[in-house]
Amino acid sequence: MDKYEIRIMVLTGITLAIFMVAILRSSFTYATGIPECIPYDESFTQPRIEKLDDKLYQIFALAQMWSFEPSEIRLPVGAEVDIYLTSKDVVHGLNIHDVSLNMMAVPGGINKETVTFKKPGVYKIVCHEYCGSGHQHMMGEIIVNYPNN
Ligand code: CUA
Repeated sequence: MDKYEIRIMVLTGITLAIFMVAILRSSFTYATGIPECIPYDESFTQPRIEKLDDKLYQIFALAQMWSFEPSEIRLPVGAEVDIYLTSKDVVHGLNIHDVSLNMMAVPGGINKETVTFKKPGVYKIVCHEYCGSGHQHMMGEIIVNYPNN
């Protein structure tokens, strides 16, 4: 084997190891999870917020050109939320930067992720997957610690 081939293989191995360490480190540092893909069910496609108890919520979110439904969500501080996400038309993304949440909204599929809102504030939701001419207008927000929640 040529010495340059060996060098390239070693460099590739080192690069892959760095990527793996970076992924694992960010996963533990930011407590990011891998979204679950669950079987498609019509009942998940109706946008709504369900309160299971004082701190436990479920959000059934629908992405469509070019909005999220529900687009404004109010939660108490410390709310643990299961987010179920699907799309009505094309592939969209759902990103909440401040809690390191990234999900894909896929037509005919449902993704689920759990997130806890530990601090009060307004958490901006943006679509991070180019989905057409109105992509840049596709936003929402989660208001945590709303007084009359
Ligand atoms: Cu929806 Cu970009």
